[in-house]
Amino acid sequence: MTDKAKQDRVLIFDTTLRDGEQSPGATMTHAEKLEIAELLDEMGVDIIEAGFPIASEGDFKAVKEIAQRSNNSVICGLARASLQDIERSWEAVKHSRKPRIHTFIGTSPLHRAIPNLTMDQMAERIHETVTHARNLCDDVQWSPMDATRTEHDFLCRVIEIAIKAGATTINIPDTVGYTAPRESADLIRMLIEKVPGADEIIFATHCHNDLGMATANSLAAVEAGARQIECTINGLGERAGNTALEEVVMALKVRNDIMPYQTGIDTTKIMNLSRRVATVSGFPVQFNKAIVGKNAFLHESGIHQDGVLKNVETFEIMKPEDIGLFAKNIAMGKHSGRAALRSKMNELGFDLAANQLNDVFVRFKALADRKKEVYDDDLIALVQDQGLQD
Ligand code: KIV
Ligand code: ZN
Repeated sequence: MTDKAKQDRVLIFDTTLRDGEQSPGATMTHAEKLEIAELLDEMGVDIIEAGFPIASEGDFKAVKEIAQRSNNSVICGLARASLQDIERSWEAVKHSRKPRIHTFIGTSPLHRAIPNLTMDQMAERIHETVTHARNLCDDVQWSPMDATRTEHDFLCRVIEIAIKAGATTINIPDTVGYTAPRESADLIRMLIEKVPGADEIIFATHCHNDLGMATANSLAAVEAGARQIECTINGLGERAGNTALEEVVMALKVRNDIMPYQTGIDTTKIMNLSRRVATVSGFPVQFNKAIVGKNAFLHESGIHQDGVLKNVETFEIMKPEDIGLFAKNIAMGKHSGRAALRSKMNELGFDLAANQLNDVFVRFKALADRKKEVYDDDLIALVQDQGLQD
């Protein structure tokens, strides 16, 4: 890769199996975790955070087996700032061809108060734990949890300590989804400018969606110099979830003219992964969810249907095939027009004369007033009831 290509490459770090699984009720079985990890690996995710090995025996086994089976992705295990956690994480990920330890501690005033550490004591803990992780593994990620609510001076100080102790990726979590795009960018820019050694490591952005800004905040961070986005399939994650992988990846693809960064994701695998994660986590995708929602590529109103039938680009900014979706993009309902009905009839194999189409149209509108969506079978019945065709 040329230096330019390296600068433009954004790594995708998927944490569906760790932060995603922390959503209350989203627990996955061992077999389901292995299946999702395999799909993520095949899709081209750079780093898979496979779990939190010290959290339970089950988590440990899942991370270990994912590490043993993975082909391409780096496999990462989470650890708190404790030597025991870090060793447990290493025991699980060391089976991977590309292991990573991810260790973290809460650095904001609210989070520092919980272990009741002074700033100096916390700085010392960070030095000790990151050094220990680096003695075990060449690839170490460190996160100051609640970074976006941490005093800037202290944040710079602890990041410098983590880099000197051997961290290779510094992740900046917006743990409670509190930041906004301009602030997210300013923070990354400030850290790159001020922290000694910042040019030696990769900055990551890890956003939560409490105010619905996770995708915007992640992209703003990339524009300011972050080169790893942490995200989950369908935006699964605690509370309002994490940055959705499909949103950031497709935003970078569709708006590459203004955000000229590349990912290694095979986007045609997005839809299948979205469906599998929804099924195994038990978290259905909302109908109007960007990219993967049931309605994301569907048109019901007459004006829109007429437009897409003439030129699909009138109302579609990306191709459904690009996310691996091959379903029809026209939904027949009470807002649908004659052009859509004619196209639908042709697709169903009926060749109706103009007056026949008019008759069917009147009866279709009456039916659509009673029913939310009119399906192919309803339309076939309308034609056959009228005795127009067998
Ligand atoms: O949101 C967060 O701060 C996290 C850390 C563990 C990185 O998930
Ligand atoms: Zn998180």
